[in-house]
Amino acid sequence: METETTPEFYIGTPVEPIDLRFRGAFVAELRQTLRNGHVVLTAPRRTGKTSVMNYLRDHPENEFRVVSINVQDLTHPADFFQVLLDAFHDAHPEFLRDRLAAGWGLLSDVLGKVESIGAGGFKLALRGSDPDWRENWRRHGDTFLARARATGVKFLFIIDEFPDMLLNLSRKDVGLLREFLAWFRTQRQNPPPTRDSIRWLVGGSVNLTGTLDALGMVDLVNDLEDVSLPPLTDEDIETFVADMLGGRGVPFEGDVPRQLIARLGRPIPFFMQIATQNLYRLWRREQRTISLTDVDAVFDEMIVGSAARTQLQHYHSRIRQYYAEPRRSMAHALLGQISMSSSGLTRATLLQETERVLAGLGATRPAHERRQLFNQLMFDLENDFYVVEVRGGNYDFASGVLKSWWRKYHA
Ligand SMILES: Nc1ncnc2c1ncn2[C@@H]1O[C@H](COP(=O)(O)OP(=O)(O)O)[C@@H](O)[C@H]1O
Ligand SMILES: [Mg+2]
Repeated sequence: METETTPEFYIGTPVEPIDLRFRGAFVAELRQTLRNGHVVLTAPRRTGKTSVMNYLRDHPENEFRVVSINVQDLTHPADFFQVLLDAFHDAHPEFLRDRLAAGWGLLSDVLGKVESIGAGGFKLALRGSDPDWRENWRRHGDTFLARARATGVKFLFIIDEFPDMLLNLSRKDVGLLREFLAWFRTQRQNPPPTRDSIRWLVGGSVNLTGTLDALGMVDLVNDLEDVSLPPLTDEDIETFVADMLGGRGVPFEGDVPRQLIARLGRPIPFFMQIATQNLYRLWRREQRTISLTDVDAVFDEMIVGSAARTQLQHYHSRIRQYYAEPRRSMAHALLGQISMSSSGLTRATLLQETERVLAGLGATRPAHERRQLFNQLMFDLENDFYVVEVRGGNYDFASGVLKSWWRKYHA
C-alpha cells in the first residue's frame, strides 16, 4: 500500500488504490472481519470509505471475485439486482456467460440480445427480458444468488451508499423497504456466513441504525458486523503533510504539520487534502518557506472558499433533510451556540438552550419529554459527527473547519 512516488492530491474523488495510504491496518482488519461475517462500514462523508472499498475491489483476497456498486440513487429492489448483475457483467463477463448464465434462461436470453445491441446494452436488455421485472425482483434475486453459490466460487459484493437506497425506499414505500430488508437478511443467514461463499460489504455515510430505528426495522440489519472507519491519527496527518509538501520540494517550518492538525480538529481527510494543496499552491506562487501564519490563512480561506463549500453546506442541509421538527430547530440552535464558544459548552447550558427553543416553538411538553428529546438529539449529533465530548464534559464541534464555517454562516 506504500507508494514510491509522491501521491496526487485528491479533492473529493476517491483516492486511487495505488495512492491509498494509512489504511493498511484497517484493510487487514476488514478482511479478517469479512472472513466470518457480513459487514456494514460507516463513517461520515468524505472520510475515505469509497477509497477503501475500491482498494478491496482491486486487491481481492485469494480467489474472491468482487462486484462493487453504488446504490445511492436506486429506489426499488429490482433496480438493485439490475445494477448488481450489470456490474457483475462488466467485471467478470466470461464468468457470467460460462458459469452463471448457462441454464438460466433469463440471462442467456439477455446475453444473446446484447450481441446485437452492443456494449452498454446489457443493463437495458436485462430489464426488457422480463415484462414483470419489477414484481419479480425476489425471484430473480434468489436465482442469481443461488446460481452464484452453486459455482463454488467466492464472491464479495460491495454495496456503497446502502443507507441512501433504504431512505429512498422508505420514502416511496415503507412496506417494500421492509420486504427487501427481510429478504436480504434471509439471504445473509441462509446459509450462515461461515458456510456461505458470498460476502456482503455495505457502506454508507448515513447511520444505518439511526435510519432504521425510527421505522422499527433495526432487527433486520443487526446481524451485520458494524465496522467504523478509524479517523486518521495525528501521526498520519503529520506524515501526509510532510510527504506531500516535502515530496514536492516545498520548504516548511517544523511546526507546520502540528498547526494543521490543530486547525483540522477531527481530521476529515478531505479538508486535510484541501489545506495541504493550498499550502502547496501558495508556495508555487510565492516560492518561500511555508510558515504557521500561512496555515492559518489557508484555513480561513477554506471556510470562505469554494472547494470545501459543498461539503460544508451538506452538513448544514442534511439536518433540514433528516431531522424533523422540533429537532431541526433545536439542532440549529445548539450548533449555533457551540460554534460561538471557544471550547464547547456543557450539557446543562445546552439543555437550557433547548428549553428556550422549545418554548419559542410554542408547543407544551412535560419536562421529562423535553429532556428525552434533548438526550436523543445530543446522541444523534454525536453519531452524525457534528459534536464530540471534549475535556471537562463540554460538547464541541468535532471538525474545526466545520466549527469556523458554522460560526461565520449559521450562528
Ligand atoms: N487514505 C487517505 N489519505 C488521504 N486522503 C484521503 C484518504 N481517504 C480519503 N481521503 C480524502 O477524502 C476524500 C473522499 O474520499 P472517499 O473515499 O470518496 O470518501 P467517502 O466515500 O467516505 O465519502 C478524497 O477525495 C480525499 O481527499
Ligand atoms: Mg463514498
